[in-house]
Amino acid sequence: MGIEYFASKRLFVLSTTHTTYAFYINAMNVPVHLYYGRHVSDNAELLAMDFSADRPAFSPHPEKGKSRDSNEVLALEFSGDNSGDFRVTGVRVVGENGDSASDAFYTTHRMKKGKYAIPGLPAAHAAQSEAETLELELEDSCAKARYILYYSVFDDEDVITRAVRIINISDGPVRLERMMSAQIDFPVGDYDLLSFHGSWARERHAERLPLGHGVRSIRSCRGASSHASNPCVALMAHDATEMFGDVYGFALVYSGNFAIEAELGQYDTPRITLGIDPGSFCWHLEPGEDFYTPEAVLGYSAEGLNGLSRNFHDFVRNHILNAYWSRQIRPILINNWEATYFDFNADKLREIGKMSSELGIEMLVLDDGWFGKRDTDNCSLGDWVVNQEKLGNFETLVSDLNRMKLKFGLWFEPEMVSPDSDLYRAHPEWTLHTPGRQKMIGRTQYILDFSRDEVADYIYEAICKILSTVNVEYVKWDMNRNMTEVFSAALPPERQGEVAHRYIKNVYRVLARLIQAFPHLLIEGCSGGGGRFDLGMLYYTPQIWCSDDSDAIERLSIQAGTSCFYPASTMGAHVSVCPNHQTGRVTPFTTRGYVAQCGTFGYELDPTKLSEEDRMLIREQIATYHRSHDLVVEGDLYRLTPCWKTNPVEGMLFVGKAKRRAMMVIVRRQAVPCGPNLCIKLAGLVPELRYRTGDGHSFYGDTLMNCGYPLEKLEQRDGASLLVELEAE
Ligand code: GLA
Repeated sequence: MGIEYFASKRLFVLSTTHTTYAFYINAMNVPVHLYYGRHVSDNAELLAMDFSADRPAFSPHPEKGKSRDSNEVLALEFSGDNSGDFRVTGVRVVGENGDSASDAFYTTHRMKKGKYAIPGLPAAHAAQSEAETLELELEDSCAKARYILYYSVFDDEDVITRAVRIINISDGPVRLERMMSAQIDFPVGDYDLLSFHGSWARERHAERLPLGHGVRSIRSCRGASSHASNPCVALMAHDATEMFGDVYGFALVYSGNFAIEAELGQYDTPRITLGIDPGSFCWHLEPGEDFYTPEAVLGYSAEGLNGLSRNFHDFVRNHILNAYWSRQIRPILINNWEATYFDFNADKLREIGKMSSELGIEMLVLDDGWFGKRDTDNCSLGDWVVNQEKLGNFETLVSDLNRMKLKFGLWFEPEMVSPDSDLYRAHPEWTLHTPGRQKMIGRTQYILDFSRDEVADYIYEAICKILSTVNVEYVKWDMNRNMTEVFSAALPPERQGEVAHRYIKNVYRVLARLIQAFPHLLIEGCSGGGGRFDLGMLYYTPQIWCSDDSDAIERLSIQAGTSCFYPASTMGAHVSVCPNHQTGRVTPFTTRGYVAQCGTFGYELDPTKLSEEDRMLIREQIATYHRSHDLVVEGDLYRLTPCWKTNPVEGMLFVGKAKRRAMMVIVRRQAVPCGPNLCIKLAGLVPELRYRTGDGHSFYGDTLMNCGYPLEKLEQRDGASLLVELEAE
């Protein structure tokens, strides 16, 4: 396993436990991609996978080469623009004289133990023994640029990470108009593309469509990875299912504007490029300056989409999440947002706290409205000073809650400013805004210009001041609007295309500083729910509020889609009241609990207003959580029903790594009169072990996996559900 170089063939083979990724340097010094997929043992034979062949003369090629050397014909590890590759390419770099032709040829390479880092950006972390790295150096024939292509190989998780560094080696400035993190060519292949679309309160619904000719672009230019799209996609063989078949995954460790472009070229060759969205990006490089792309993560599994998800979950837990929180059972929290919205004071919070603590809840999160004079969402963002009129002495309130055995968490929206705020009155120039244009407003707020260090530092100090005076053990970091008029008063004209990237880098910098200052602080990411749910944020915030939609039925789709790449332990999931505040739907309290148990569990309601019966159910839910939540945090997740469809009955299963315990949640979306007999097939169990199902029954693993678990106990009504805990005898 690891990285091998066969000098006589100039062949690079990157192997993980179950995968092989191979390319070679051809006679023209071009890195030609050969194969990515299930592990193969004979490396020499991989060279046969160079499918370059003579093609019609319309495909231009270097004068001394043949048309088989045309960039358009080759499967390429990297390709430039305006030099014969007419597909979506990895880079577009424009020289001082306006020359935009670029290509790149192999010069040298280095192989190392351990993992590369990317200055100023989140990237997978690994001990020296956990990864191997290849640095492939390429140079532009006109010497405009040198490129270093990074590849790190993670054996155990069947993952390869990639990134690119470009160095301007010319005498004048160059303009980077496109700099993707990775380009992956498949010399042959016919796939479906699985991507995730949505909107506010309807994030990450999976969509599976055949990859046809032309370019399919999944992108965000909203300043965040967004509700509407997500920086991860899968390529699935047409016959691949949740359990079987070839599936490739591609994800970005990035939270800003991104693009994933999937193209089926004219010779039926699939290509994926992923990186910063070129449409909203441009970077100015002076001679000698360099630029690093964000990291791309590639995975492959022959065990269907679930196999890919399990690899990604292990990878995220081992190499993306903060090691302190990664495998920790998170405190059961109660958030007052849906309980009170802005209508609270210290007494109300004490009341909620007292009842919550009696029920076994472990942390109270005070959401929006505790600062400035904010009683509605139209003022005070930026004024991170406690509203004493509302809350009295803040330290006393927090120590009272702590005495009730409740940890305390606090909401911030650090990147925003309200026009009606002391901060805005003092620094109107600190917002993103194009001079002369009308300033657009969203949720009565402007966006702070986080591309400016002094703005980011000011906000960091303001947050720190609160965290240093009261015992805050959790922060919810929110971001509630999309970006417009992206322009910074602090940057010259040629650098305006850099604003969005500089912005997100400073968000990362502030988060990193906070974690350094408060190493055990639990930060939950949020952006109007799940509008910035990605590996970049997860590097700093081990959990993210999955959606503002707390309706259990809508959550089935959102959480299933999210689980394709992100572990369940990263998905904030709360029980709220009915009729649900977002959909008006009424779902049994038990079902709301079961669905929330499939994420980082908590409540979003006023427990003092619940019936005694519902409070009893809370006690039961908390007991289940203490018994089984380790399976959600550390176990293997199996979606038992295809996430790209709306299934009448949905199932999710968590199996402990030792395969001795499991927890399954089944939910009927809608009752079907005289519906079919139902049975759901489990997965991941030991065939010959007998599992008790908690209701006096027990089944062999192979019975549960092959015949299935009969669902005759699932009531015939909307939102009926079962939670089954399995334990090996
Ligand atoms: C966003 C969040 C909610 C809540 C509100 C407060 O919408 O997603 O959970 O914090 O802001 O304004």
